[in-house]
Amino acid sequence: SLEIIALILTLIHFGIPLAYYVYLKKKWLPKPWNLKINPKYTPRITVIVPTYNEAKLIIEKLNNIYMQDYPKDKLEVLVVDSASTDGTPRLVEDWARKHTNFRVMLVKEPSRRGMAHALWTGFKHAKGDIIIVTDADAIWTKHDILREIVKWLSCEDVGAISCIKEPLGGESLEYKYRQYYNILRIAESKAWSTPIFHGELSAFKKKLLKRIGGFPLGVGSAESLAAMKIAALGYRAIISDNVVVQEIIPRREYTKWRIRRAQHLIIHLIKTLSYIRNYNNMLKVIVLVEAYLHIINPWILLLCTIVLLYCTLILHSILAGSLIILGLALLAQRAYHAWIISQLFLLLAQIKNLWNKE
Ligand code: GDD
Ligand code: MN
Repeated sequence: SLEIIALILTLIHFGIPLAYYVYLKKKWLPKPWNLKINPKYTPRITVIVPTYNEAKLIIEKLNNIYMQDYPKDKLEVLVVDSASTDGTPRLVEDWARKHTNFRVMLVKEPSRRGMAHALWTGFKHAKGDIIIVTDADAIWTKHDILREIVKWLSCEDVGAISCIKEPLGGESLEYKYRQYYNILRIAESKAWSTPIFHGELSAFKKKLLKRIGGFPLGVGSAESLAAMKIAALGYRAIISDNVVVQEIIPRREYTKWRIRRAQHLIIHLIKTLSYIRNYNNMLKVIVLVEAYLHIINPWILLLCTIVLLYCTLILHSILAGSLIILGLALLAQRAYHAWIISQLFLLLAQIKNLWNKE
């Protein structure tokens, strides 16, 4: 009957992500990294900071990079500003004048063409062997994060590395949601590679970025797609639990922000599917599961809700009605609440992608 169908849909919707999580935590997370690190590797690094109206944060951001424990003569910062109207470029120039022992360059784009375009421009100017991209609103809490990144990139197999994120301020919802995904990202990285990178800190070998033609244009998460293009060349794209970044969660327009990010993520996963034939079996599975979780699984929840509502309201099913009440009562449980909300964001994002890809 319809009730059985609803039950099966519920099991699929909650069972698959839960099974994936439990399996990865048990089987992949404890795995050794199996990487050969060269502790002497000290490459030149270019840090690209794309900015659009970041006057409130840019000084703290530059100070944060300046505080890093890494040879100053091997480090350069490229701020790529896209016609900010709040005086961001002037602040950067003033800061650079006060720190003459540190190479900070300002690249000005004549008009706003999006973050991906700014990264693409930054790449053309970058002189480092390693290119790191980082958002103005991300804080590197530890001062040895560059050394940590260089350590991983000293391995021949590793082409790119990103961070795990700790939310700072804003919705408590964000914490629950992060914990689950951080475990997945690290476990996938240990198995081989993870398909989802973060703009708060993503590092790439320049020679590999060159091979993929620089940062991809016309996408919302250029860092993730660059990583997956590099993975298609046979290199690993990983996230390590030793690379942690704090991200300031916007208090205003939180919902809009989450939906926009979900939109970018979905487009990224769809593009990544087109490279799947180049991946090894492990990464094929990872990409397929992630695409399923972000694109298909939310619809199963919606379908299941519709079937249950139909059973309750039209067929007067007591079982279906009880399940709906249970589903609502569980919203008091925070992890479940966070999950349901993120499914809603993913659904809205897919619908919005139909007419506005932003
Ligand atoms: N130059 C330039 N031009 N910079 C821009 C533009 C632009 O048109 N638009 C945004 N930026 C800068 C911002 O000033 C900030 O430093 C950085 O790009 C990220 O912008 P946010 O507005 O903070 O993006 P987000 O928080 O929604 O998304 C970030 O995180 C995602 C998930 O990790 C971005 O890094 C995404 O690329 C990433 O996928
Ligand atoms: Mn941000």
